Amino acid sequence: MSEITYKYIRDYLMAIEPDDDIIIRTIRKDALNNNVPIIKSEVKNLLKWILATKKPSKVLEIGTAVAYSSIIMSDFIDTDGCITTIERSEDMIKKAKENIKKAGKENVITLLEGDASDILSSIDDTFDVIFMDAAKGQYLTFLPECLRLLKKGGILICDNVLQNGTVAKSRFSVPRRQRTIHNRMREFLWELNHNKNFQTSILPIADGVTLSYKKY
Ligand SMILES: C[S@@+](CC[C@H](N)C(=O)[O-])C[C@H]1O[C@@H](n2cnc3c(N)ncnc32)[C@H](O)[C@@H]1O
Repeated sequence: MSEITYKYIRDYLMAIEPDDDIIIRTIRKDALNNNVPIIKSEVKNLLKWILATKKPSKVLEIGTAVAYSSIIMSDFIDTDGCITTIERSEDMIKKAKENIKKAGKENVITLLEGDASDILSSIDDTFDVIFMDAAKGQYLTFLPECLRLLKKGGILICDNVLQNGTVAKSRFSVPRRQRTIHNRMREFLWELNHNKNFQTSILPIADGVTLSYKKY
């Protein structure tokens, strides 16, 4: 798989990173051994930094997987704060529940089981931070709900938006079967950048991350 960053720089940055606690390290190792796609270290550090400065009381995550990122974020929310996270895969839900219990975060993290396409519209709450890390082809359709669910002054963070750099290439250079998702991600990035409600920055770290501040 191609990367959008230089390996030697990533390796160096990883080498100088402080260790996470044993539970986080174990979840990470287990996820990587089982090919579960979890956030890369750069994204982990970015989330920690944003949450440490923002001190959100309510966080929404779309795409829990094994709850690695939600457990990390839960250490940075305000006292009495909570994380709501959505996952549709039964295997992931099972593992996420085990990990949330192991981390002692059952009172802080609420796992909503099902497809975000069905669940998002039923949420009657607003959030300080939304972390979107689900199926990339759905980001564009989830965007209006994210806008509705995000408080004014809130931050929308979306992971894996550059798809190994292919998003920046012509559609004719990507295999035909990937062209729909290529097109959708390009539309999504265009919309985020041009939506008047948001101030957006697209960071070429990990596999591409967007940060959008909701201005109005
Ligand atoms: C990249 S993984 C999430 C990783 C997780 N945020 C972490 O870093 O620990 C994406 C997850 O989103 C889930 N997913 C994808 N599309 C979804 C949808 N429409 N509704 C709910 N879950 C979805 C997948 O089943 C998968 O477990």
